[in-house]
Amino acid sequence: MRRTIVITGGTSGIGMALARHHVGRGDLVVAVGSTEQGGRRLLERVPGARFVRADLASVRRTRDLARRLRDEFPVIDALVLGAFRYNTARAETEEGFERTFALYVLSRLLMAEGLREPLQGAPAPVIVNLCGVGGPRSAGIRWDDLQLTRGYRPFTATMQGARAVELLASVHDGGRTRYVLYNPGFVATGMHESFGQPVRGVVRAVSALFAQRVDDAVPPITALLDRPPAAPLTAYRGGRPFEPAVDRASALRMEAAVRAMVAAVPG
Ligand SMILES: NC(=O)c1ccc[n+]([C@@H]2O[C@H](COP(=O)([O-])OP(=O)(O)OC[C@H]3O[C@@H](n4cnc5c(N)ncnc54)[C@H](OP(=O)(O)O)[C@@H]3O)[C@@H](O)[C@H]2O)c1
Repeated sequence: MRRTIVITGGTSGIGMALARHHVGRGDLVVAVGSTEQGGRRLLERVPGARFVRADLASVRRTRDLARRLRDEFPVIDALVLGAFRYNTARAETEEGFERTFALYVLSRLLMAEGLREPLQGAPAPVIVNLCGVGGPRSAGIRWDDLQLTRGYRPFTATMQGARAVELLASVHDGGRTRYVLYNPGFVATGMHESFGQPVRGVVRAVSALFAQRVDDAVPPITALLDRPPAAPLTAYRGGRPFEPAVDRASALRMEAAVRAMVAAVPG
């Protein structure tokens, strides 16, 4: 059966490898990225995919994308949330949010909620959130400064985003849709490109030595898309299921904070 699969960040790395696999199997794959260059790369390497350009760091554009996808696809079988950028310096979006938080946290919540209806129409709907679930906790959440206006560090922003994603997934109301938090481990993608030299060279070398090949990261994810777990929420790290440590009070606190942020953006 031909399924419809939406992949944010589907123009590079793990997202593009998933797109290639599912197009090869005859699925309709809608890959979202923010640049034309990424779209061209996708269409050269995965000619059967559909490219949709949208800047998911923008709340307004993410909402608009979800609306367009709902209108065009009454049924969506799977949503893969993979759009990510490692921001080496703090930057704000046009709506005034710290970019890592906007892309990693706000857009993923808005996409999961915005596509709830078409997902509910599928026989075995699933959301796979590619993230750093179960990663190092030392950074934690800066409850007094979620936008990291003081002492921004890219790793802190990334780890805080991963933790926020984990908290929000635990209170997500997906109905029949299964929610999977999936940390792929260290995978050799275009990650080194975010860094300036000499760090870029070091990350590329370390990645070549220790990271998993992108194509090897794909089968366990497609297995989850093909046969979603029975439990409403599951988490995987390095291919193995585990129980994320989530306390409900923190999850509700994060949800309230994030809802207030997106509510401040009209449209
Ligand atoms: N690779 C790893 O070792 C690793 C480890 C743990 C978790 N993960 C998670 O796995 C996911 C995929 O990682 P990856 O390494 O495969 O990523 P990647 O190769 O860096 O690809 C990132 C994707 O996100 C898109 N993107 C970036 N900014 C965007 C924006 N503002 N709006 C829309 N799309 C945007 C990029 O397209 P454009 O540039 O065209 O916007 C690209 O398609 C990420 O969520 C990451 O957190 C990866």
